[in-house]
Amino acid sequence: MIKEIFEQPRAVRDTIAPRIAGGQVSLEEVRIAAEEFRELTKITIVASGTSRHAGMAGRYMIQELAGVPVDVDYASEFEYRRVTGLGELTIVITQSGETADTTAAQRKAKAQGSRTLAISNVKDSTIAREADAVICTNAGPEISIASTKAFTAQLAALYLFALYLGEMRGTLASAQMSARIADLEAIPAKLEQVLLRDPQCEDLARDYYSKDDFLFIGRGVHYPIAMDGALKLKEVSYIHAEGYPGGEIKHGPYALIDEKMPIVVIATRDDNDEGSLTRYEKNITSLREIKQRGGYTIALAIEGDTTVPAIADHVIFLPPAPELLLGMLEIVPLQLLAYHIAVHRGLDVDRPRNLVKSVTTE
Ligand code: AGP
Repeated sequence: MIKEIFEQPRAVRDTIAPRIAGGQVSLEEVRIAAEEFRELTKITIVASGTSRHAGMAGRYMIQELAGVPVDVDYASEFEYRRVTGLGELTIVITQSGETADTTAAQRKAKAQGSRTLAISNVKDSTIAREADAVICTNAGPEISIASTKAFTAQLAALYLFALYLGEMRGTLASAQMSARIADLEAIPAKLEQVLLRDPQCEDLARDYYSKDDFLFIGRGVHYPIAMDGALKLKEVSYIHAEGYPGGEIKHGPYALIDEKMPIVVIATRDDNDEGSLTRYEKNITSLREIKQRGGYTIALAIEGDTTVPAIADHVIFLPPAPELLLGMLEIVPLQLLAYHIAVHRGLDVDRPRNLVKSVTTE
């Protein structure tokens, strides 16, 4: 797991590089006519586990960059809903390409007339073979049961697709396209910087590995990151952990706050994004209210932030990045925290109990 966490700069670089040419996104492997993309009325994203968390983040990217409404569903629930059809696109996201729930969901979407696009880390997998179009995440084989490098590569692939779709639908001018491509290409180097926080994450793990409960909160595109941070911790350390939208903890989870349950708050900000600054202010309020209720917080913040450190009990600083790309950086300290906590608990991090790498039964 630790090896794969540290492979993320390369995994993201290898996913991006072959698809950028002359300041444009080229997805030759996506053999769906531009006309179909221009006439798209809706996109449904279906996946399981960590891949669904990537889809939740992809929803914000596609809605903002391409202006297409996006619905996200658990693959295992999708078969009970009639949500797609002609003129629509279903994106199935999977590391293994063999997850039974996701395979069934893709087959159901096709039967209902939807086009399907698979984002898979295994080129010749069942899901990749059966899709109308495929974007392969070039993360390399992912062996550890906890998905890390495949997740950040999925986020990169979703951002590429959102740019590609935006250009085809005319929602992105070429100047904007070049700037956003440059933002994406800067991520691998920023991931290298974030990985330097590993010793701090190990120190935090030493303080918190004996806790029985964690809460992870994030708003907007950061909520899926909170969800995956909780899942990472759950599956490798066996600690009960929940990911929650930041604004929702007032509606019940406040009752859980005490000194025994650390709360991880994603309190980053993009100074060039008004919505990000609004979410940031609300996160500052959440940090204050948690503190007033006797809670302990571990916050993620942007380098140079002085407000968050004045309130949170611990802060992990990240380099600045655009709002829609910050999640690729934020998940790394959460992966490292989960890894080190599991090691401190003496557990088999790579082969957690009761889990398999690819769930091939429904
Ligand atoms: C992620 O860390 C878990 N191992 C699990 O939730 C996984 O993401 C899920 O089973 C989906 O697998 P897939 O991406 O291969 O379809």
